[in-house]
Amino acid sequence: MTKERQLLEMINRIKSNDGPYTHSDPYRPAYHLSPPFGLMNDPNGLLYFKGRFHVFFQWNPFGTDHRTKVWGHFSSTDLLHWEGHPPALVPGEWYDRNGCYSGSAIEHDGKMYLFYTGNVKKLNGERESYQCLAISEDGIHFEKKGPILHVPKGYTSHFRDPKVWRHNDHWYMVLGAQSDAFQGRAVLFSSTDFCHWQMLGPIAGSHWNHSGDLGYMWECPDFFHLQGKDILLFCPQGLEPKGMNYNNLYQSGYLAGRWIPGTNHYEHGEFRELDRGFDFYAPQTFVDPKMRRILIAWMGMGDENERYHPTVEKGWIHALTLPRELKVIGDHLYQTPIDEIQNLRRGEPIRLHIDMNRDHSEYSATISPHSEIIVHVHSLTSGPLEITIRNNIQFSYDTDHGIFTLRRKKFNGNQYESRQCMIGKLSKLQIFLDSSSVEVFINDGQEVFTARFFADPEDHSFLIASDSQATVDLQIYSLLA
Ligand code: FRU
Repeated sequence: MTKERQLLEMINRIKSNDGPYTHSDPYRPAYHLSPPFGLMNDPNGLLYFKGRFHVFFQWNPFGTDHRTKVWGHFSSTDLLHWEGHPPALVPGEWYDRNGCYSGSAIEHDGKMYLFYTGNVKKLNGERESYQCLAISEDGIHFEKKGPILHVPKGYTSHFRDPKVWRHNDHWYMVLGAQSDAFQGRAVLFSSTDFCHWQMLGPIAGSHWNHSGDLGYMWECPDFFHLQGKDILLFCPQGLEPKGMNYNNLYQSGYLAGRWIPGTNHYEHGEFRELDRGFDFYAPQTFVDPKMRRILIAWMGMGDENERYHPTVEKGWIHALTLPRELKVIGDHLYQTPIDEIQNLRRGEPIRLHIDMNRDHSEYSATISPHSEIIVHVHSLTSGPLEITIRNNIQFSYDTDHGIFTLRRKKFNGNQYESRQCMIGKLSKLQIFLDSSSVEVFINDGQEVFTARFFADPEDHSFLIASDSQATVDLQIYSLLA
């Protein structure tokens, strides 16, 4: 079958809501976005436009590898229930022949503007990249306008993922880049007409402007003002693990500081990771009509685990995180699930007040694979508090050292792997379980751990245990989209 026929068939399957969907697949998310088939990675072009929320995403509809990338497209009126649309951007022109890579969206004069990276691989293996524009009147059909920016001098062709926003009477674009000296950079441009872009220079980088080593390449930057801080999100590649930090193949994190608009002058603090779990990358943010700064990320990682996802056999892989609202506290970004998620709660919750001690040290329950679990910790004298979910995911809090640990069963075998971070005192956990994912928000978003996992579909077990003096309140809601 030709690629064009495959694409047409794919569009029709999306339209008729057919395909290897939920019912036959116990790992298909019930309330997270996942691709109808093929591979999903970065969220792109997040935008509220003419009454609907739009989420585009990097999509290989032809397989579960990273070869071809089109822009898949969902929209919604409530950020909970999503409708699939035909792909918005499909490679084919000389400037995007090998992939319509990541980018962003803005509204201007009633039209939607998409900015994306055209990826071109030449026969000799070299890469070219072009920052491109596509415009739509209705938010569904897009007209490509071609390249608006070429790779400037001083950078390799790893130059991509334009994020565009408006500040006063200028448009700004920040790009992820690699300098000629193989250092990661976030590079800033400005424009008044979308077609001519003036380079203002790097706003941050590895071994640049007092920063230490922050990797050989930065991907997917985002830059915004929130509650008195200018925040730069980006995904550095090439950081070595350092204790509890940087243990994934690639990182995703942020700098907080102060930017002088119209310049590339940006004073900032230390790099911090955004999420402490295994599966979080390429986040993007947008502002919704309630003026909330909302983040959605790829709930995945392009590491060797991709080979072992059991969903590959079913023709799909990966998902996106829940939409999360961002807040700034001090120099620290807090993330909380958007309030709308409460509308997914079904029926009466399980409510328990639990006093644990040496003689009475654990409580178990049977839970839906789609649940929200809230734990308020009232007192915990010393020793660990542990929560085990579906015999695959375990959270433990070490009271004496203030360390939180996520352990998950490896996708290939029975061993466990773990991620950790310091949280100080634990007062609250809010856990979102979907068929094959977990997101735990600690202390109202101070830290978040996100991970995929693949438990025995029949295993619905939940266990909370502590062998010291602990008093907790537990609420467990079933969720349904
Ligand atoms: C990040 C990324 C981007 C690129 C896209 C390609 O995951 O590598 O830098 O635009 O994915 O799918």
